[in-house]
Amino acid sequence: MTIKDKKIDVLILAAGMGTRMKSSKPKVLHELLGKPMVEYILDAVKDLCSETPVVVVGSGAEEVKTKLGDKARYVLQDLQLGTAHAVSCAKEMLKGKSDAVIVANSDFPLITTETYTALLEEHFRTGSKLTVSTVIADNPRGFGRVLRDNTGRIMRIVEDKEANTEQKLIRELNSNPYCFDTEWLWNSLDKVEKSAVGEYYLTDLIKIAYDEGLSVGSIEVEDRDESIGINTRVHLAEASVALQKRINTKWMLEGVTMIDPEKVYIEDSVTIGRDTVLYPEVYLRSGTTIGEGCEIGPSVLIKNTQIGNRCRILFAMLESARLENDVDMGPFGHLRKGAHLDEHVHMGNFGEVKNSHLGPGTKMGHFSYLGDAEIGPNVNIGAGTVTCNFDGENKFKTEIGEGAFIGSDTMLVAPVKIGKGAKTGAGAVVTHDVPDETIVVGVPAKPIKKKQE
Ligand code: UD1
Ligand code: MG
Repeated sequence: MTIKDKKIDVLILAAGMGTRMKSSKPKVLHELLGKPMVEYILDAVKDLCSETPVVVVGSGAEEVKTKLGDKARYVLQDLQLGTAHAVSCAKEMLKGKSDAVIVANSDFPLITTETYTALLEEHFRTGSKLTVSTVIADNPRGFGRVLRDNTGRIMRIVEDKEANTEQKLIRELNSNPYCFDTEWLWNSLDKVEKSAVGEYYLTDLIKIAYDEGLSVGSIEVEDRDESIGINTRVHLAEASVALQKRINTKWMLEGVTMIDPEKVYIEDSVTIGRDTVLYPEVYLRSGTTIGEGCEIGPSVLIKNTQIGNRCRILFAMLESARLENDVDMGPFGHLRKGAHLDEHVHMGNFGEVKNSHLGPGTKMGHFSYLGDAEIGPNVNIGAGTVTCNFDGENKFKTEIGEGAFIGSDTMLVAPVKIGKGAKTGAGAVVTHDVPDETIVVGVPAKPIKKKQE
């Protein structure tokens, strides 16, 4: 028997208020490394469930649904009457549809696919009606305590607020997720009674199973980080650090060097090639890919950008840009949307490029702005060059041909074309197109004859 032969549904409980986050945003949408916490769960279970996972929404329901879209199906829990009540809201949708239902709290984003798989395997191996995930820890963090009988069988879970002094000392805690036999779950939920605090506890099903003489299965979650549940922003930070460590470790094992891994921030969807070195204070945000043998940092933020091999980037910010192989950039550069630096481009101090292509081998050493420009190969952009691309109402294009030399402090008043091999003198204000191999100087720039050789 493999779990692949079984029909599995996944139910994520996400209707709670998350009051302790002190936020106008629903708790489950708070992000860890650029991704809402609940999305980590959806991603971890996506290959295990037979149908799209179901999320129980309540507080901030519309916001959650908008954000997650068709990654989930939804059921509404109007009033938050406890975790058992939350599960019962999905009864109509899920009854009779599967062999087992995994129930996961939405605020445990670090639980891995391996743990969900281990839970399912244990559940089917033992043939239990219900299987729980426990963690052994000195700090109970408000979790329910697992009570076992003399023979070691799980009898019940007692909630933190209801545990007596002796029970509070128990180090085996209820981590979640749970796995239920589908039929047993829907037949047993109605037996859960209201607790002293007025909530219906899902954990009461453990007592119900034990009292029916059924054995409750369990797995132990050994990696404590997986059991970081998020109730406050302190927990959120704790989970972020643990996740960052997990991601960074993965990339180091894939051949990426990190000078100080604690100071490198890599979001979930980023990819990095071998022998790339990341210096401290590097932020690689979603949609970014980095090739092999690059040196990135210190102090670089890259978002939604594709970078080739052997690039060097120092003190910079790159957004929605593209760098081909062997680009050298920085210190202090800013690439904005649509910047495309071709092979062997050198971009020195304090440059900004937006919606422009710099051809192979082009050099832009110091203090320049290129916007809406098409720059040919092997062009020299002198210090202080500016494409004046905006007249207050519209944007215009600048084109510069192969091998042109743009003198320091040239203002290129777009729309304007500079021909191949053309030159502009220092301080030129170019308002008209410049033919190939022509030198222009002055304000406004006018052609001059080349000196006789
Ligand atoms: C729960 C468990 C506890 C366990 C801990 C960590 C119960 C009764 N207790 O406690 O044993 O140690 O998680 O795994 O289940 N939710 C709803 N609707 C509700 C109430 C809660 O959707 O009416 C959702 C919350 O959004 C959250 C999850 O269920 O994602 C857990 O609820 P929470 O109130 O945080 O339970 P804990 O007190 O942490
Ligand atoms: Mg909780």
